[in-house]
Amino acid sequence: MHGEVTISGSKNAALPIMAATLLTGEPCVIHRVPNLSDTRFMARILESLGTQVKFERGTLTVRAQKIRGYGDYDLVRKMRGSICIMGPLLGRLRKARVSLPGGCIIGARPINLHLKGFAALGATIKIEGGYVDATARKLNGATMFLGGRAGSTVLGTANVMMAAALADGVTVIESAACEPEVVDLANFLCAMGAQISGAGSPTITVTGVAKLHGAEHEVIPDRIEAATYTIAAAATNGEITLKGARADHLRAVIDKLSEAGVSVEKRGANLVVRRKGKLKSADVTTLPYSGFPTDVQAQMTALFTLTPGISIITERIFESRFMHVSELARLGADIEIEGPSAIVKGGRLLSGAPVMASDLRASAALVIAGLAAKGTTQVNRIYHLDRGYERMDVKMRKLGARIQRIQEK
Ligand code: EPZ
Repeated sequence: MHGEVTISGSKNAALPIMAATLLTGEPCVIHRVPNLSDTRFMARILESLGTQVKFERGTLTVRAQKIRGYGDYDLVRKMRGSICIMGPLLGRLRKARVSLPGGCIIGARPINLHLKGFAALGATIKIEGGYVDATARKLNGATMFLGGRAGSTVLGTANVMMAAALADGVTVIESAACEPEVVDLANFLCAMGAQISGAGSPTITVTGVAKLHGAEHEVIPDRIEAATYTIAAAATNGEITLKGARADHLRAVIDKLSEAGVSVEKRGANLVVRRKGKLKSADVTTLPYSGFPTDVQAQMTALFTLTPGISIITERIFESRFMHVSELARLGADIEIEGPSAIVKGGRLLSGAPVMASDLRASAALVIAGLAAKGTTQVNRIYHLDRGYERMDVKMRKLGARIQRIQEK
């Protein structure tokens, strides 16, 4: 792969920021919102709550003048990320009712920490008939510890931060998630008039205010999309420029890739990716930010199938995020699963085959392996891919990849 690719706005920053527009009746304008099935879905959920939404050429305008406290059961149930409408609804209306998000293929994904945070602010929580209800006569600031089995929770931190923004008094969230997407949300909330400090650190302090106003904001670039294109370039021994990617959001990824023989250099506002000679095996463990992101684990696993030697990838965030392994084996990869780790014996030439996408990042890993394999690979169920990558086939073709989207019969 060769050439330049422009990195889109971050899906995982845009979703909670879209939900945060529910905190005010005034218009909010959000720029660089990626055009994905997930963001279009969130826009429909916002409309089902009574807001007016306009989404054109990456700019989203939302007016949540008159809203109701409960979302469309089926809509919310279908997209886990929509759980983050609960905090803003509880903050603004003192009530929120959403369908309980089920588990997903990568793990059970409970929301106990979200509910623990809401309860600490004084909300009463009731789970009944597939719904979770949070109601409060008054929301009072509180100090809470939001760490869980796998450490901090990203959307849990986001949800509680949004509810606390309109609570009485001061809330302190300890063991808060430090992801750049949490910081981007806090910046948007502050632009709306919220008082938040410490975002990006494990301790976030929110001083509640009576009312929030409209605001304008530009979403940060998608670090996971940037990491995906970086690994695709490395897998094809190419040289590409990532336009608009932020190196400071990718430290753990850049560090691990450097160990594996891939250089990622900052050039002005861009990043330049190329191999430094042969790929080298390495070990990876996924961790909460600023550790190695779980959302890049599958793509890295694909890269290590091409790398001579043994690489061990340990998944510490989600309990079943190795669905891509059996599909990579169809392409000839040699990977064994041992508990939370995948042991990759790499360096074989892969050969193309029909494979099945199981989730968003697994589908990206299969595309990367397909680019490096001889012959043709057909990745099925790419609706998973469209949830998180804007026009991946178009962008990759611009980089010289021979990739076609075909309609399934
Ligand atoms: C966000 O999910 C991202 N999604 C995920 O990206 C990402 O993988 C994840 O953070 C971790 O980085 C969005 O931002 C929309 P968590 P989130 O709560 O917030 C456990 C992608 O590919 N946990 O930080 O739902 C949980 O089960 C997606 O773009 C509890 O036990 O993840 C997991 O093991 C996939 N109780 C761990 O914490 C809770 O109440 C981290 O989950 C909440 C979480």
